[in-house]
Amino acid sequence: MSKHPNLRADLALREGYHSPQVDVSVRLNTNESPYAPPAGFTEALARSIGDLGLNRYPDRQAVLLRSAIAALDGVQQDQVVCANGSNEVLQATLLAFAGPSAAVVVAEPTYALHSHIASLLGCKVVHQRRRADFTVDAEAMIEAVNSNGAAIAFICSPNNPTGTLEPLETIQRLATETDAMIVVDEAYGQFAPRSVLDLDAGILERVIVVRTFSKTWALAGVRLGYAISSPSVIAGISEGLLPYHLSSLTQAAGLAALETAEAMAVRIHAIVEGRGEVAAGLQGLPVEQWPSAANFILFRPNERSADEVWQGLVDRGVLVRNCVGWPGLENCLRVTIGTPEENTKFLDELGAALT
Ligand SMILES: Cc1ncc(COP(=O)(O)O)c(C=O)c1O
Repeated sequence: MSKHPNLRADLALREGYHSPQVDVSVRLNTNESPYAPPAGFTEALARSIGDLGLNRYPDRQAVLLRSAIAALDGVQQDQVVCANGSNEVLQATLLAFAGPSAAVVVAEPTYALHSHIASLLGCKVVHQRRRADFTVDAEAMIEAVNSNGAAIAFICSPNNPTGTLEPLETIQRLATETDAMIVVDEAYGQFAPRSVLDLDAGILERVIVVRTFSKTWALAGVRLGYAISSPSVIAGISEGLLPYHLSSLTQAAGLAALETAEAMAVRIHAIVEGRGEVAAGLQGLPVEQWPSAANFILFRPNERSADEVWQGLVDRGVLVRNCVGWPGLENCLRVTIGTPEENTKFLDELGAALT
């Protein structure tokens, strides 16, 4: 469809964010959980719905939910702010700490929404390239932040779409050698062996950790994400949110999910095991792959065109993410870890598509 003539000129030129969906039996393209939420979740949510009083506005401070998340992550309630998916957390953070014409630095290739939301808000986006192994070049990143007087630097760890887990030293250096706020997007943090939250708590004066219920908690459809930082940073991010932004239903869904923490831990374990099995399977195929600490793996066919392999997989009923158009990811594909059956089907069909 052609763009409306009254649309903001800079938006008229943009491509927008798309992750095409194709109707196939095995969908491994958007890093969701392959499992529906556990039965206990649905029961807990159903129990709470009658008491929500939906004729009233929600608890603006989302006190119960924030307390429960704080208890889970070992911080205080005033160190947590929730929003509609971590994308809204990112948007509020940009509104509060950057804003129009402020510079923000991203380490490419990385999650496209960091730069997308920033440019939507009128920020100046500085694209810094990662090293060949996809880790962040700390020296170059610090230089980019300082020379642009950047308000925010984004580090995605584990990084989407490469799976790279950033050394904590890089975060520490960015927080101490620049004046920017450092946003560490840990949307996939629960699949990784370490977190920025393992660092000394003092770092949270300058570091914002962003997490989501969309992956581990199997609730991408609920839209719930949160940030952890120091109380004053959290108060700042809250300035970028609308009043009553988080519905009573979303708050109840988050609380119900947290009641199933044990079942979730079992699922995380299963997905991490599945990741090992997919990585081992890829080793036997003519592809290059990168170590992943997330629930997906980036790989590159050695001799075949990724576009053809992607289509070959779709024809065989498997959808993966085609990363070919992503700068720095020439000829790459990304597969989300699914159920054991989905992983086997993916490996079998990939083998066929590569021959
Ligand atoms: C790195 C990263 N951050 C944030 C998000 C957005 O998550 P949410 O569903 O919480 O908005 C995604 C979703 O794919 C992601 O990959």
